[in-house]
Amino acid sequence: MGLERFSLEGSVAVVTGGSRGIGEAIAVEMAEAGATVVPVARSADDLDETVGRIESAGGEAIACTMDVTDAESVAAAFDRTEAEFGPVDVLVNNAGTNPYFGNARKLDIDTWEHIFAVNATGAFRCAREFARRIDEREETGVVVNVASVGGVLGLPYQTPYSASKHAMVGMTRTLAIEWAPDIRVNALAPGYVKTEFTKGVRENESIHEDLLAEIPQDRFADPEEIAGAAVYLASDAATYATGEIHVVDGGYASK
Ligand SMILES: NC(=O)c1ccc[n+]([C@@H]2O[C@H](COP(=O)([O-])OP(=O)(O)OC[C@H]3O[C@@H](n4cnc5c(N)ncnc54)[C@H](OP(=O)(O)O)[C@@H]3O)[C@@H](O)[C@H]2O)c1
Repeated sequence: MGLERFSLEGSVAVVTGGSRGIGEAIAVEMAEAGATVVPVARSADDLDETVGRIESAGGEAIACTMDVTDAESVAAAFDRTEAEFGPVDVLVNNAGTNPYFGNARKLDIDTWEHIFAVNATGAFRCAREFARRIDEREETGVVVNVASVGGVLGLPYQTPYSASKHAMVGMTRTLAIEWAPDIRVNALAPGYVKTEFTKGVRENESIHEDLLAEIPQDRFADPEEIAGAAVYLASDAATYATGEIHVVDGGYASK
């Protein structure tokens, strides 16, 4: 027992939404911890940057485009990863979207369905693809779902986002029970993080000030401050952790 239990040496990890923001930070830190990493997202350009960062740090990675709302592209990304590097041991369900900020009375159902298609159904589609392949090989694996404090608290004016992240939290707890002991399933619940995702709220001075007033640490996180917890949950240091919702939020949900 020792710090080597935090190592991901010998693991192959697929990180959805690994092209920027939190997913990029998780992909890079998992590679630094020894994993071979396949960041996936819809746009190839951003993915190449993540792969470049991993390779220049001495890690091994390939970029692979994938849309979590498309079953064929999800299966193809797993096929390509297996062909290049062998079986996938770790799935990070990080791809997410939040295009609506406003009163739920005005929300149209198409927007609601799109947010659920990416954040909830897309994550489940990837988890199911991963689990089927683990079962075929009679091996073990780890899923890390990137939920949100919006998955454990209500977020006014972000109803479909918060509801979709509550769905992810429910999925995490339920799959953790159903898939034990072969597959550990945990979630991260980040608070507000400095990424493209939060650019709109950070650029709106009054919303930004209101949010900062709710965060005991009085700032948004850098993506790297979230990534370490994902490495821990994926590692052998967390072999008894499953169904956990790991909040990393500067104290936001503790108020
Ligand atoms: N930033 C925050 O404050 C915060 C807080 C709590 C939780 N989170 C969660 O953390 C995760 C990452 O957020 P972020 O802030 O890093 O966001 P981001 O910078 O906007 O990155 C989102 C990533 O998801 C990918 N993506 C979006 N739709 C996809 C799809 N249909 N299929 C595959 N990939 C897709 C994007 O690449 P493409 O556009 O190229 O596909 C990108 O790589 C999300 O699940 C978010 O809900 C964020």
